[in-house]
Amino acid sequence: MNQARTVLAANGFSFTVSRCRTSAAVAAGLLSKVLGYNSVCLTCLTTDTPGVSMPTMTSERGEGSFDRWAPSYDRSILQRFMFEPVHEAVLRAFSAASSAPHDVLDVGCGTGRLLEAAARRWGEARLTGIDASEAMVAEAQRKHEGDARFAFRRGDASALPVEAGSFDVVFSTMSLHHWGDQAAGMREVARVLRPEGLFILADADVPLLRRLRPFLKWTDHVNFREPEGMQRLLEEAGFSVVMWRRFWRVMRVQLFVSRKT
Ligand SMILES: C[S@@+](CC[C@H](N)C(=O)[O-])C[C@H]1O[C@@H](n2cnc3c(N)ncnc32)[C@H](O)[C@@H]1O
Repeated sequence: MNQARTVLAANGFSFTVSRCRTSAAVAAGLLSKVLGYNSVCLTCLTTDTPGVSMPTMTSERGEGSFDRWAPSYDRSILQRFMFEPVHEAVLRAFSAASSAPHDVLDVGCGTGRLLEAAARRWGEARLTGIDASEAMVAEAQRKHEGDARFAFRRGDASALPVEAGSFDVVFSTMSLHHWGDQAAGMREVARVLRPEGLFILADADVPLLRRLRPFLKWTDHVNFREPEGMQRLLEEAGFSVVMWRRFWRVMRVQLFVSRKT
């Protein structure tokens, strides 16, 4: 990127490039304000705090941004247009493959909205959510205080703070591309599932960012897997993929149903 900029600058393009970057950052800042999708996914290319500065998010992996987003997360317009339809799709995918679960885990649970939808379907299920963001977990705990069905803990996908073999199903929605070690996260999911347990994974699929990743430093903290790469990771972690589909909800999303082998 720097090389390209040097070449462009040498040819008199520096003003245009910097104007484009500023415009992109301003547009992304406005978009993140409108959508409430604060600075992490849609706009991670351009801005950490919505505004005009370019980020260097290579070390942060976005947890700070999720902490900042937590108080308004449930009110984001994206809930209706992206997250809720994705939650609905994963719950339906599970129901098509299995009977009602007893123990459900959501990795990267945010404020617990997928588990709330799960509770409406499966009134008897025990619902555990784990998330790396302290503020997301605090918000989830606040909403479900006194409801014994729910438990929320702070933790990283690569070291889940729960016992081996304790869940019938693990869900994860729109989170995996933030995981620092996706292979370790998937091995952890396999560890905590009971034999034959299901892992229902939905994550954004953004081919453009995948292609730009080697060139753009500020995309280092997200890693969007192509379907083949995702399947390989799942199989290496001890899953067999039983279903895959792709659909659009604001952005392209891929959904995998995998069984622990
Ligand atoms: C876009 S939000 C999605 C939240 C929720 N799954 C939903 O569908 O509404 C991504 C969530 O993943 C969490 N996350 C990111 N990296 C994580 C990791 N390594 N382990 C656990 N959670 C993580 C973030 O803190 C954030 O709450």
